[in-house]
Amino acid sequence: MELSIGEFEAMQMGWRKWWIRELELRSFEDFGLQIEGKDILEVGCGSGYSASLITAKNPKSYTGLDIMEEQLDLAKRKNLPNAEFVKGSADDLSRFEEKSFDAVLDFCILHHVEGWRTFFDEAHRVLKDGGRIYIADLSRTCIHITDACFHWGHAEEALFSFRELEEEANRRGFVTVKKDSWLNLEAIFCFEKDR
Ligand SMILES: C[S@@+](CC[C@H](N)C(=O)[O-])C[C@H]1O[C@@H](n2cnc3c(N)ncnc32)[C@H](O)[C@@H]1O
Repeated sequence: MELSIGEFEAMQMGWRKWWIRELELRSFEDFGLQIEGKDILEVGCGSGYSASLITAKNPKSYTGLDIMEEQLDLAKRKNLPNAEFVKGSADDLSRFEEKSFDAVLDFCILHHVEGWRTFFDEAHRVLKDGGRIYIADLSRTCIHITDACFHWGHAEEALFSFRELEEEANRRGFVTVKKDSWLNLEAIFCFEKDR
């Protein structure tokens, strides 16, 4: 079942902004994310809140990708400097050149992507040598709990355990640099392209 713009908006409430700013982005930076002067791709940029935080740190370029036109329109209306917003799916980055980004970021959208395994191949291709993926995302267990409470109905094929996520990244040419998780519900990963 596909989620609607209203459901996605509900997931981007005030507390979620605090969570992105104070926990996820801060953890990415603690794990080594450098933004200033770097080429950054965010998959599932939504209405652009994380984009506003990232572009404030002077990247060389920021590209936000999302499958939903309405979300991209909201993001574009923010008129952020050096930012480009494009329509597309996280599991198909073919519009981007090989080795064009220093980092690919995911703020809790990979659990919407049925082709999340393919995302690692795509990210591998578009990352420069030594480039990194920073992932903040939710486990299958966490999504089952939220769906029981809010009846959002995420697609089961898109869900993963953190072990499955890490094994898939490692199998597809990434080493795990750092990882952390809270109660096996949300995890932060930093993966580096190693071959
Ligand atoms: C709940 S919002 C999260 C947005 C923002 N990253 C945040 O954390 O608040 C989920 C976003 O993921 C996007 N999305 C869902 N499936 C996607 C896919 N396959 N590729 C790219 N974006 C996707 C939706 O359109 C939506 O904007």
